[in-house]
Amino acid sequence: MEIIIQPDDKTASYLGARIVAQVIRRRCETVLGLATGNTPLMLYKELIRLHIEEELDFRRVTTFNLDEYVGLAPSHPSSYNSFMWENLFRHIDIPEHQIHIPDGLAPDIPAFCRQYEGAIKAAGGIDIQVLGIGTDGHIGFNEPSSSLTSRTRIKTLTRQTRKDNAPFFNGEENVPDHVITMGVGTIMDSRMCLLMAFGEKKAEAIAAMVEGPITASVPASILQVHPHAVVLADEKAASLLKRADYYRWVYENKPEWQKYK
Ligand code: GLP
Repeated sequence: MEIIIQPDDKTASYLGARIVAQVIRRRCETVLGLATGNTPLMLYKELIRLHIEEELDFRRVTTFNLDEYVGLAPSHPSSYNSFMWENLFRHIDIPEHQIHIPDGLAPDIPAFCRQYEGAIKAAGGIDIQVLGIGTDGHIGFNEPSSSLTSRTRIKTLTRQTRKDNAPFFNGEENVPDHVITMGVGTIMDSRMCLLMAFGEKKAEAIAAMVEGPITASVPASILQVHPHAVVLADEKAASLLKRADYYRWVYENKPEWQKYK
């Protein structure tokens, strides 16, 4: 894993956007894995700016979102579908048929999940997967105890995640219990994973995923064995990392050819 510590969420998000943009510029048919939540918001803003001001072209990009709430129509204001259109898709030039978000209203959820996995495969696999992390160490909605080889499926949220996501629903009681999420194995198949984490409330999860044992109790910890995982944290989220000085030194002394442009 490459651990990059940045002074704040803004600097980290700009760097994250540069990393994603570099992948898209190298291969215009990039398959992007996308996340929701507060964490990627500034990264999406920066991608929009790069599109408007620096001609970042999304016309041949395909996207797959990590997850969606079961029972919410795409048009529901708290759905991840609405979130993605509001915060990214409606501002860029990606054709609608190249956008994939799990269908919270799928009548046959297992069949839908198989189809979603098939669509990722048919697109050639995910080139770069953007990830946040739950305070309990989840990625996507793979809560603690998720199989580390799981594929897209239905999951039940923990009380903690329902609490964390309550602000998007005007209260915890309105947060759906069930979600469709890419599995940990699905995420691990991505050629590159970019996990971002900001703020003190993510510090414990980041310490556990980066420096703790690989365990289903912290699903993000599986990224320790991913061939190309980058963790982009601000100082607060990195505050409990024991080897923070080493990670900083490594980043500052990268060979020129390895640096993000
Ligand atoms: C949700 C999403 C995750 C996200 C997490 C953290 O559970 N399913 O993909 O990483 O929240 O959210 P935030 O970025 O708002 O802290």
